Amino acid sequence: MGNTLSEKLKEGSREIHSEIEKNELARRIESGKITFDEVKRLIAGYFFIYSVLERALEENREHLFVQAVYHRELLRREAIKEDLLFYFGENWAKEIHPSISIQIYCKRIEEVSKYNKELLLSHAYVRYMGDLSGGQIIKKWLGDALNLTDRGLTFYNFNQIQDINEFKSIFKKGIDMIPADDETSKRIVEESILVFLLNINMFNEIVRGDRVLTFNLDV
Ligand code: HEM
Repeated sequence: MGNTLSEKLKEGSREIHSEIEKNELARRIESGKITFDEVKRLIAGYFFIYSVLERALEENREHLFVQAVYHRELLRREAIKEDLLFYFGENWAKEIHPSISIQIYCKRIEEVSKYNKELLLSHAYVRYMGDLSGGQIIKKWLGDALNLTDRGLTFYNFNQIQDINEFKSIFKKGIDMIPADDETSKRIVEESILVFLLNINMFNEIVRGDRVLTFNLDV
């Protein structure tokens, strides 16, 4: 395994990353077979996830491990709201509900935010590094599949970041500045695998077309 924490994260999640790339929803995105309705569900799900994640990061940003991955230019909640307006109209807030997989995902973020704050780093790593990497390819595929230019894909636009590759290395350098011991590093890598699994769970639910049950989630 690599020496630095960012190398450990990359190597530790390599296998699960190739699994998510082979996932049915990912394939449907790549082959242009994804439907408008599936994209609506995806973006609606992201609204809950990022609302909870970004609140947790905000609340804990004095924590050394959170500070390292907290960058204002990454925050997605406001961008997602623009997409929700596009997909669901003015009443979007009343139209969207967190599905079971989203509730489980959000619950985990809330849990680590209370009891294992250092693991928030894994949640930020998987989502934001994913959005800055594969996310940029996904944006193109979705645009082609649904004939969208920019509206509806604001989520994937990082307007405040000029050079995405440079930013990715800054993000990793931030992670590598943390003095994490072996045991903590191990738990952080394990959590990142869990985060991938939570994302796979959400993808599978969208493909199955599970009914979205109505629950309130305070975001
Ligand atoms: C079809 C779907 C996907 C494709 C084609 C894809 C592709 C890629 C590519 C090309 C990279 C850059 C690798 C590098 O710089 O060495 C990357 C990195 C990454 N992706 Fe994905 N990805 C996909 C889905 C996802 C999903 C759904 C997530 C998260 C839930 C994710 C999380 C990540 C992370 C965390 C990295 C950063 C790895 C690192 O450099 O540490 N990816 N992805």
